This record gives sequence, C-alpha cells and structure tokens, in this order.
Amino acid sequence: MSEPVVVHGYLRKARETSIEGLAWLDRLPDLVEEACRRWDIEIAGPPYEGGVCGWVAPVRGAGGDAVLKVSWPHTEAATEAVALGWWGGVGAVRLLAEDRDSWTMLLERCTPGTPLRDAGRPNRHGLAVGAEVLKELWSKGVPPGGEPCFVAMAHVCDEWAEDAERRVAQLGAALRALGTDPSILTLGIELLRLLPRSAERQVVVHGDFNPGNLLAASRAPYLAVDPKPMVGDPAYDPWSLVAQLDWPFRLPDAGSVVSRRIRWLAERLDLPAERIAAWGVARDVQGGLWMATERNTAVGARWIRSATITASMLS
Ligand SMILES: Nc1ncnc2c1ncn2[C@@H]1O[C@H](COP(=O)(O)OP(=O)(O)O)[C@@H](O)[C@H]1O
Ligand SMILES: [Mg+2]
Repeated sequence: MSEPVVVHGYLRKARETSIEGLAWLDRLPDLVEEACRRWDIEIAGPPYEGGVCGWVAPVRGAGGDAVLKVSWPHTEAATEAVALGWWGGVGAVRLLAEDRDSWTMLLERCTPGTPLRDAGRPNRHGLAVGAEVLKELWSKGVPPGGEPCFVAMAHVCDEWAEDAERRVAQLGAALRALGTDPSILTLGIELLRLLPRSAERQVVVHGDFNPGNLLAASRAPYLAVDPKPMVGDPAYDPWSLVAQLDWPFRLPDAGSVVSRRIRWLAERLDLPAERIAAWGVARDVQGGLWMATERNTAVGARWIRSATITASMLS
C-alpha cells in the first residue's frame, strides 16, 4: 500500500465522539495496511463516503476488483460477515474473506455501486427493487440452530424496550412540549415486545434495509450491503425502505403515501400490511427516543410524530 489512508469527514466526526472511537481512528492506517498485506491487495481509490460505521474503499488484487471494509467494532456489526457468508451472494454482496480480530472484510465490489437512494428513479421503482432483494435474502430461511450465530430479534427488541422506557422517564415532558402524544410511546414500546413473539415466520433479516445499503451491481440489478442481522420476523425489514425512500413524512398527505407504500410491499412480500406498519410504529418510537436523548430532541420528536401517523393504519 503506497497511498496514505484518507478518512472522510463524516466518519471522523462520528467516531471522534468517544475515546474508543479516537483510538480506533488512530489504529485505522495500520489495520488497512495489515489487510492489504494479508490479502495481497492494494487500495484502488478514495474511500466511499456513504457510511459512518466503517472505513470502506475500493481495492484491487490478483482476484480482481473488490472492496475492503474495516468496521468500527460495535455489537451490531459483529455478525455482518456471518450473514453475508450465510446468504452466499443471494441478494447481497459476496463475502470474499474475513478477519474477525480486526473486524475487517473483503467484499465483492458492486459496479457501478450507486446507492438506491441516489438512483433518481420514482419511488415505486425503489420499492420494487427492494422487494426483489428482500425475497432473495429471506429465501435462505435460518441456519440450523440459527440463534447461536445470529442474535434473536426478541432479545434485541426487549433490550430496546427497556432502554426506551428509561428514555421516556428522562425526556417525556420535553417530548410532550414538542407535540408528541404520550400514548404513542406506550404503544411503540409494547409493540417492540409483542411483534417478535407473534411472527409466523423466522428468517435472517437484513436489519438495516435502507436505500443507502442497496447498491447497483452488474450480476444483479441491486445487491444489499451492511446488514445488522437478527433472526426473527421478516416484516421488520421493509420499514427502512418505506420511511427512507424520500422521507414521506414531510408530505402533507403522508398518511396515504405511507399506507400505499406499505400495502404495495405487503402484497409483493406476502406479509400482512398491518404488521409492516406496526414495526414502523415500534421502530420510529425506539429510534425517535434514541435520537431525542442522544443527538437532537426536535428530530427525535419528529420521528415520534411520524409513528402517530403510521399508527392510524393499525386497527
Ligand atoms: N461491496 C461494495 N461495493 C461498492 N461500494 C460499496 C460496497 N460496500 C460498501 N460500499 C460503499 O461504501 C459505503 C459505506 O458502506 P457500508 O457498508 O454501508 O458502511 P456503513 O456501515 O458505514 O454504513 C456505501 O454506502 C457504498 O457507497
Ligand atoms: Mg451503510
């Protein structure tokens, strides 16, 4: 490796918020250099700017073009490589090599690699693309004894529910002042506990199926990257697509747009529309409470208000 390791601003800013993050940023050039030596590859361009949880760059070696991802060590990334290996290239990029100790992976490169978020196509196209990829990922089911290698969704959601209750106690009054309805918080937390236990089917979910994690590829129209896998209800996954393709909650008729998107996906994916919506409520309450306490109270309150809109789809 001859070029110095460039770290783009978003990644640096996100990781500089903790001592561990600063230490990881310090180690990053060595981790990249070790990976280049281990797999006999060289950096083939500047790092991608999409993410804040890892350093990701195009590389080249004897096997051709690939991508190197050095993840910031965090729980959600712990089984990213296991999931990519489990899917074996069906719906997601192939895992070419992995070094667990350094949280480093060598991945199949998507070319051109344009994220679905930037495709500049109508939202209906985005939903159709996403539905096809989800069907592929879920078609693999769960590995025998699935939960030892992937965390159970019920376990993760129980932890989120407990955490959310603490945050409500901390911030409930401020959220009410910002126009959020306290009953939506109770409903969202209750759904976090109920939904994983009432699913009819179990799959390895992608876990962060937002349109930035679907990349235009050559061997398939789009492939998924960056999973945060869990074993559980497939109806968990579509919400990131519904809510993050062009944030529909900014629209005056948000309720009907969101409901149309959900019903359309439900039909394609053979899932109850109400269950997709219920996950929307649970996840926007959980994410909104996290955002309101950790980053930006007004933005968190906005997410929680969007949960109220989605909840009108529940009977
Ligand atoms: N296999 C790949 N092929 C091409 N580009 C990729 C690949 N994996 C990641 N990228 C690029 O790197 C960006 C960040 O990668 P991602 O795995 O999503 O990291 P993060 O965990 O930080 O979100 C993506 O948005 C994409 O632009
Ligand atoms: Mg990502």
